[in-house]
Amino acid sequence: MEQKPSAPVEDPALVAAFEARIAAGESIEPKDWMPERYRKQLTRMMSQHAHSEIVGMLPEGNWITRAPSLRRKMSLIAKVQDEAGHGLYIYCGVETLGVDRHELVTQLLDGRAKYSSIFNYPTLSWADMGVIGWLVDGAAIVNQTVLAKASYGPYARAMIRICKEENFHKRQGYEICATLATGTPAQKAMVQDAVNRFWWPALMMFGPSDANSPNSAELLKWRVKRKTNDELRQRFVNLTVPQAAAIGLTLPDPDLHQDAETGDWVFGAIDWPEFFEVIAGNGPCNRERLAARNKAHDEGAWVRAAASAYAAKHDRRATEAA
Ligand SMILES: [Fe+2]
Ligand SMILES: [Fe+2]
Repeated sequence: MEQKPSAPVEDPALVAAFEARIAAGESIEPKDWMPERYRKQLTRMMSQHAHSEIVGMLPEGNWITRAPSLRRKMSLIAKVQDEAGHGLYIYCGVETLGVDRHELVTQLLDGRAKYSSIFNYPTLSWADMGVIGWLVDGAAIVNQTVLAKASYGPYARAMIRICKEENFHKRQGYEICATLATGTPAQKAMVQDAVNRFWWPALMMFGPSDANSPNSAELLKWRVKRKTNDELRQRFVNLTVPQAAAIGLTLPDPDLHQDAETGDWVFGAIDWPEFFEVIAGNGPCNRERLAARNKAHDEGAWVRAAASAYAAKHDRRATEAA
């Protein structure tokens, strides 16, 4: 009978030393020894994050040509461009784990990779640009502020830089919402409708509830994550409820109420079957997003070919000179 090769057994002394470093709050750097599981989990998490930044450009990119003023157009272009930068930055971070970026991009394009569920919802009105900046970038900040203390150095450092830009995104989004909310009745109705559509998907961005999150325990143990999905979701709700009230918008949750003892804003049940459908590729825009990414990738083939030819020419000249 043929025997399957068994998984490599890691030296318990190395694992113990690694875990002691984590416990001491040290940061793990690319050349340091790390358990294969740690490398795998980080690769999964960071690549999903990078893909989310890139796919996240699509719903907003759709509105650049329809922005209502030059000022709004400029800030939307800048935001979408920032997201591209975040994606590239995090792809570089994943490469420090020994993964080739082309492999990651291929996984995204052929539908094997996951990215944030939120970007599979359509952007139907200009108000969606405000609400995405306010709620989606706002949720990202809550997540990423904690990831800036992650145990893997390159990821943590990327988050510090990215969070600064996300703060601008959130502010420009909230400003759009505030402007519409104090505008004409039609504008107010438009922004309220956008909030109604994006509120629950924004809560889903934090991932499954702790009871149903298979990777959380390991990620917390290795301090890749410092807080659970449910803790982060609660923090986001607590921050957002007063922001909605301040501009006279309501959140579409009849069960939302403040707990007198903890001060937390308690929210109603999340539609988890919907979340898992979107994650499985059956959300309203999954197919459209992947098709748009593939089209952009195909249309960019000449840029990659030209860049490779240019690099080869320089290599050749350098060799000849030597
Ligand atoms: Fe971003
Ligand atoms: Fe952003």
